[in-house]
Amino acid sequence: MSVEYDITTRIFTLHTKNSTYQMQADSLGYLLHLYYGRKTKGLTDWALAFSDRGFSGNPYDSSNDRTYSLDVLPQEFPVQGTGDYRNTMLEVRNDKGVYGCDLHYFGHEISEGKYSLHGLPAVYANPNEEAQTLTITLINERLNINVKLLYGVLPDKDIITRSIIVKNEGKNPFTVMKLCSSCLDFTHGSFDMITFHGRHMMEKQFDRQRLHHGSHVIGSRRGMSSHQYNPFVILAEHDTAENSGRCWGMQFVYSGGFEAAAELDQYNQTRLIMGLSQEKFSYELEPGEKIIGPEVIMTFSDEGLSKLSQNYHECIKKNICRGKFRDLTRPIVLNTWEALYFDFNGKKILEIAEEARKLKVDMLVLDDGWFINRNNDNRALGDWIADEAKLGFNLGELVKYVNKLGLKFGLWVEPEMISENSRLYHEHPEWAMIIPDDKPVLGRNQLVLDLSRHDVREYIFNSVSKLLEQADIEYLKWDYNRSINEVFSHKTNNGKVIYDYMLGLYEILERINKRYPDVLIEGCAGGGGRFDAGMLYYTPQIWCSDNTDAIDLLKIHYGTSYGYPAIVVSAHVSSSSNHQTGRFTPLKTRYTVAMSGTFGYELNPLTLSNDEKNEIISQIEQYRKDSAIISDGLYYRLSNPENETFCAWEYLSRDGSVALINVVVLLNHGNMPQIYITPRGLTSGTFYRDIENGKIYASDALMDSGFPLKMPKSDFEGYTFRLERLS
Ligand code: DGJ
Repeated sequence: MSVEYDITTRIFTLHTKNSTYQMQADSLGYLLHLYYGRKTKGLTDWALAFSDRGFSGNPYDSSNDRTYSLDVLPQEFPVQGTGDYRNTMLEVRNDKGVYGCDLHYFGHEISEGKYSLHGLPAVYANPNEEAQTLTITLINERLNINVKLLYGVLPDKDIITRSIIVKNEGKNPFTVMKLCSSCLDFTHGSFDMITFHGRHMMEKQFDRQRLHHGSHVIGSRRGMSSHQYNPFVILAEHDTAENSGRCWGMQFVYSGGFEAAAELDQYNQTRLIMGLSQEKFSYELEPGEKIIGPEVIMTFSDEGLSKLSQNYHECIKKNICRGKFRDLTRPIVLNTWEALYFDFNGKKILEIAEEARKLKVDMLVLDDGWFINRNNDNRALGDWIADEAKLGFNLGELVKYVNKLGLKFGLWVEPEMISENSRLYHEHPEWAMIIPDDKPVLGRNQLVLDLSRHDVREYIFNSVSKLLEQADIEYLKWDYNRSINEVFSHKTNNGKVIYDYMLGLYEILERINKRYPDVLIEGCAGGGGRFDAGMLYYTPQIWCSDNTDAIDLLKIHYGTSYGYPAIVVSAHVSSSSNHQTGRFTPLKTRYTVAMSGTFGYELNPLTLSNDEKNEIISQIEQYRKDSAIISDGLYYRLSNPENETFCAWEYLSRDGSVALINVVVLLNHGNMPQIYITPRGLTSGTFYRDIENGKIYASDALMDSGFPLKMPKSDFEGYTFRLERLS
């Protein structure tokens, strides 16, 4: 049993293969957190310490026990207004404007299988995969609030998930002002917080900071998970490294605004919480209504950050991504964006398709600019009708021609948006989220549709369906190119819009996935602006960045690898000089970087030399051979590109028999110190052969000392090494 309950002490224990999580419903009915760490036997309530602490209040029911304070004790579900002055998970305001709500343990249920969340993405268990759910019910009798804390356990994956449901069971409305889904309290210890910050075209930059007193808060107020902070954080002890040490992760399965806060308190205790952003959020619950806090995926590793990442990789690959593409090699695409931008017609597209076919790519993706009036990025969003005058064909015909050449066809869309300069806006200005009589903030000169409205969702679903019905479109690139600013709806209570928007988006994506299971959807938000486990539940790959520069991508991929597996990371080989940075890099290096995920090209094949075309043909051949190990293998980071002169990473086949190691040299230097590459995870006590040059290495020595890389002759050289076990 992965979930156990000890009736005498009221202690709940969640076991995974390598970890144990423990909490207690104490005699006052509060849920105290006891332990999350290495797998252990027994009960850990001895970990609780009680002493009289000034200015830390005591619950009335503690009978004046001045050693009992929720301001000090480690909690499972800290709530505002209970005398805990640290960051809390729930804030409630009643209909008179009074804050606070004290919740007490009421009961619990242990059930087989992993819970799901109505209308929200969540980890699921596969058939025959062991999984259990613990549901703990807490109630507040004054306000008649019923809270369910959900815990999902996937023991074999070392994954524990948390979510929360808050329900109004009373007669009066109340408003949820803050809702977090997960909390981890540490009574001692000293930690670093690892986060992934960034910006458009430079997402998920690794950042590791020692926690000091106060709160270290990251998040997004943009109505999207954002380029600026990824909804994924790690707490690590100071000496935790790639291959050793303890660390804990929290990853949000949600694509809207979020907050993650790590607080070091007055007694040097640390609390980490994760949940919805409070920005523009005040969720009124009428009697009978409820709100669900999106899921947080937690994992613990005492073998360092690599293991923590691998736990997340497995979970995202097999328990978040769904549909027929989950386990398939994804098509190698040629995308027209950087090849042509808006400057094309149907003839040009077919010329490119013809050339793409010779290169042996699988699919042509027609990016932005194909629909009426869309000759630049200032207009026409919302009018999802192909521009036949520009294309020279209707969409069905164009796709047929492309198919005839032997290529599949994919299409770019941005369905959540509306341009003022569009037919749709002319007909339905009230569908745009703008505050009446106010001037909205524009982003890329566009506005966001109010997806909290049913009629808007119907319009989007029907427009996308219409496209998919009229042509054999096998892939959609679902883009989203601005942050939300104005949160206003003509229909929905305004405190609810920001959250209901996301429910609306998930509903549309779910319907499209259900009706068109053979269509692969790639998520995108100006690259990685919505790169999160929530989107991955509907779109099993995401365009990682609008920056296609191989050298910048090294760092973007490095940060991404902490929480997400390579197969969900879409990256393309683009032209040199690069359109975002102006940098020149060898074609081989561009391939080495882009092939480390779901792969394609984003350049004009008509401008390539014969040598380049031949090189691309071999790259594609090679990728087809390596794609299984890239998508299914164990991933290891072999360098830290922040500190080192190179970036190296490894994919290891499940049985350890093959290691694929990619290396890119950053800037070359005069009289450069020797670079060594140190593989990981090889089978101890065996030998491996480099299949290119035949060199044979003893696995243990190789993992200790590494092999020398030949001296680079220039910047940005890229290499791939294939090592095969000899026995
Ligand atoms: C932003 C995307 O990230 C790009 O790849 C491209 O599709 C443009 N939008 C098109 O407008």
